Amino acid sequence: MSLHEARRRLAAARSVAVLTGAGGSAESGIPTFRDAAGLWKGFRPEDVASPEAFARDPGFVWDWYEARRRTVAACEPNAGHRALADFERRCGSFTLITQNVDGLHTRAGSRRVLEIHGSLWRVRCTGCGETREELRTPLPEVPPRCACGALLRPGVVWFGETLDPALLAEAWRAAESADFFLVAGTSGQVQPAASLAEAALARGAAVVEINLEPTPLTPRATVALRGGCAALLPALLLPEAPTGMQDIPSKER
Ligand code: OAD
Repeated sequence: MSLHEARRRLAAARSVAVLTGAGGSAESGIPTFRDAAGLWKGFRPEDVASPEAFARDPGFVWDWYEARRRTVAACEPNAGHRALADFERRCGSFTLITQNVDGLHTRAGSRRVLEIHGSLWRVRCTGCGETREELRTPLPEVPPRCACGALLRPGVVWFGETLDPALLAEAWRAAESADFFLVAGTSGQVQPAASLAEAALARGAAVVEINLEPTPLTPRATVALRGGCAALLPALLLPEAPTGMQDIPSKER
């Protein structure tokens, strides 16, 4: 089980899909959710990331999202994001699915990204339902309001909410038609994203995982590469892997 094997399977693939999670942005300086210093450490996610929390105290919820928006605005895409953007330009059939709301894939140059958990850089009106981009931070007013007078909410998917059905359908189509499915930097604890890898496995795709630690997917992955996305995504996806990386078995990293 090695990077060499993963590269061999990728070279033979006709259709590639990738699912990224918070670990993909960790080396850009953005905290993950469930790691030791993660965003969900020490409090219940439902207290800031749910419709109930927003109904109770929209200012509190917006303050939390503004802090996240400021953090992300000060961060840059890393070599992993850039390798994915580069790969998209060279691959005929490619779908990038991300659970991340930070927008770093797009900033790195990825052109088509299925942001299934939404984006920190979009807002949606709780009254008229209009969705638009909002790149300013700090916002002129918190909580912000729509021209129609109703409150705007962050354009992210909260606990207890369903994912955009059209986006999710596209993600399923990509997972089910891929013969190479890459899962990078996600703990695989949130559905339905976690099931996408299962769907690809069931269809006989090569499923390659990149993560610092084992996850529920690891034992079933075709190849599990142990390490950080910023090093391993370029090593896997760029035409020339950095010298010396090709033959290192994943478990020795
Ligand atoms: P998690 O915080 O649950 O998991 C991050 C994963 O990335 C862990 O498995 C880490 O071992 C791994 N990791 C950390 N740093 C890494 C690195 N540099 N390279 C590779 N792997 C690394 O984050 P997600 O799986 O993305 O949803 O969480 C999924 C969803 O749960 C999020 O989108 C969010 C959260 O609740 C919503 O807010 C809807």
